[in-house]
Amino acid sequence: MRKIGVLTSGGDAPGMNAAIRAVVRYGIYNSISVIGIKDGYSGLVEGESIEMNLSSVADIIHRGGTVLGSARSEEFQEQEGFNKALKNIKYLGIDGLVTIGGDGTFQGALALGKAGVPVVGIPGTIDNDLPYTQYTLGFFTALTTVLESVEKIRDTSSSHSRTNVIQVMGRNCGDIALYAGLAGGAEMVIIPEVEYNIDEVCDKIMQGRARGKKHSIIILAEGAGDAKDISELIENKTGITTRYSILGYTQRGGTPSAFDRLIGSQMGARAVRLLKEHCESRVLGVSGNEIFDMDMEEALSMEKKFDETTYELTKILSI
Ligand code: F6P
Repeated sequence: MRKIGVLTSGGDAPGMNAAIRAVVRYGIYNSISVIGIKDGYSGLVEGESIEMNLSSVADIIHRGGTVLGSARSEEFQEQEGFNKALKNIKYLGIDGLVTIGGDGTFQGALALGKAGVPVVGIPGTIDNDLPYTQYTLGFFTALTTVLESVEKIRDTSSSHSRTNVIQVMGRNCGDIALYAGLAGGAEMVIIPEVEYNIDEVCDKIMQGRARGKKHSIIILAEGAGDAKDISELIENKTGITTRYSILGYTQRGGTPSAFDRLIGSQMGARAVRLLKEHCESRVLGVSGNEIFDMDMEEALSMEKKFDETTYELTKILSI
């Protein structure tokens, strides 16, 4: 293993820079040169790359986003684009590739692995929607960003005795909403994993009102419905002024948390070590305080387990 490539693909996530820095520095420490691929798989298709050195990753550990750029490449998914990417990997002399991203990124990596390219995947997405790992890089930072907004919205919700629906990201996964609901003391979370009944939502709001609650915060996962529609329904049924906020891309940016910098650094180094040891088509994950690795295809075939315990606890504590 003399030269490796590193790319970030799909939606960016805070902590990706910490992982890139670790790949580059751990690689150089092990006498492996590192090529940064720009803009994910599009950069691989177009042959857009940059030789990384110690100073190209200086001063980035604390920055959100990804210094390599990211994209969702349709071309790479076509046979022609895929072949171009393979040709560029050969041309650049890349012996192994570290891919940082979510499910789509790993699908691309798996295809490269099957075509003979040694690959290791680092789970980087705010959604926390990968089935095999407890946490993904960026999830906790996004959660903190959501909580900051929840607290601000709660202030005004109380002042005006309103209901506020806050829509968060997550694609088809409700983890951001669920964990923000528990940590932010929301009155209710609406997530795609659990069917909701609008009458029950409204009853809960009215029961809170009867007990003197001034505000109601409903955290809605984007995969479970539309904030505007749901807030209109709630207002019509309860007669309480209901506003909505869609937090959007603020959740994807910002200074990565200590946890995301730590796991980013640990996974970046571990990815290089795996490639050096000729372990191929592996993904990294987090379980408790441990970083682990496993077969990429197996990881992708797993189904995400719904965190029922956290959901039940959120419900109990929001009575
Ligand atoms: O996967 C991360 C994510 O931020 C999702 O939560 C969201 O649905 C999606 O990406 C938005 O994607 P795009 O950057 O393509 O708008």
